[in-house]
Amino acid sequence: MKVSERTKVIKPAVTLAIAAKAQKLREQGVDLVNFSAGEPDFDTPEHIKEAAIQALRKGMTKYTDVRGIEPLREAIVEKYQHDYGLSYTKEEVLVSCGGKHALYNVFQAILDQGDEVIIPSPYWVSYQDMVLLCDAVPRILPTKEENGFRITPAELQAALTPRTRAFILNSPSNPTGAAYDREDLAALSRVLEPHECLIFSDDIYEKIVYDEFSFYSIVTINPKLRERTIIFNSVSKTYAMTGWRIGYAIGLAPVISAAAKIQSQSTSNPTSIAQAAALEALRGPQDKVAEMVREFQKRRDAIVKNLNAMEGIRCFNPQGAFYVFPNIRPLLGKKAKGKKIESACDLAEFLLEEAQVAAVPGEDFGSAENIRFTYATSLKEVEKGCERIEAAIKKLE
Ligand SMILES: Cc1ncc(COP(=O)(O)O)c(C=O)c1O
Repeated sequence: MKVSERTKVIKPAVTLAIAAKAQKLREQGVDLVNFSAGEPDFDTPEHIKEAAIQALRKGMTKYTDVRGIEPLREAIVEKYQHDYGLSYTKEEVLVSCGGKHALYNVFQAILDQGDEVIIPSPYWVSYQDMVLLCDAVPRILPTKEENGFRITPAELQAALTPRTRAFILNSPSNPTGAAYDREDLAALSRVLEPHECLIFSDDIYEKIVYDEFSFYSIVTINPKLRERTIIFNSVSKTYAMTGWRIGYAIGLAPVISAAAKIQSQSTSNPTSIAQAAALEALRGPQDKVAEMVREFQKRRDAIVKNLNAMEGIRCFNPQGAFYVFPNIRPLLGKKAKGKKIESACDLAEFLLEEAQVAAVPGEDFGSAENIRFTYATSLKEVEKGCERIEAAIKKLE
């Protein structure tokens, strides 16, 4: 059977595939430590679930406005006013089936063949393939670990061309957890200001930050960029709602309208009752978020400390999200049971087989020397996983 050429230039989402494999092993009774999933282990807070139940009972079971119900779009506008002092209207908001879908729609709405998108690497797995699906060109811009996985203004300057249509800013980042502070954003914004490209600010981990780190929107730092920035966000990570599939894009009305047109001819509105739940997530009590972040921070501290104590592993201390992306270069070239570990992919496979620890190899995020561990699992599991990794890598010779 012939399938389109388009499907041949992209890869399936590897993180989802590994999570599925890990789940299967668990179902088979394997005592697996799952450091691969990109989702909080917490359940969705009760008041949010209750809002969905009430919506269902009240008969909120019909199509809604393609862009999302008005109260939810208003709540999103209020959130950005409240959190960052940014003024948007509900016409500048599109609610989609997850942040991923919002990004996909907007890419489809703005990219033509040959347009370039600057994607700093390590990057979240889907940006590149979404760009390819638009017949556009991903321009991968490697960051340096010694710069905290952040691109410098000079690196960004050198990457911008007249063909650059968009620049992706994902802070805190998946997979590194690196985040740009106020000064970093001000410096990048000075480089971006004279250009015409759009800025895609993927703020999905905005609330999951540690220590004294404060998240800023690049639009607050440089209001001149408001007309060129599309903000992406979602309830998935902040409220432990990955399965509900509600995310959104905020920005210029013409871009949002074009993206809504694409959504209207593909999925229509996101699920009505999930929208009711997202509304409660944004407008209801926020104390659970702080509780989850405190817990994530304990786990981050534990995993970073444990990994850095292992020979052959160097782990950057992330400011946000719930991932670590340790460098494993010294382990490459070593052997296990006569088999050489030649790549992060080999190491991930070795850890799955030898230690029953599931992780995602760095190649999928644009780095062959790193591996991603998610610590969105209990502290006990974090400790257990680290012990197993340590015991396994001691066997490498
Ligand atoms: C950086 C980043 N952006 C966007 C998404 C999309 O999340 P969702 O579609 O669940 O809102 C993810 C999910 O892993 C992510 O890590």
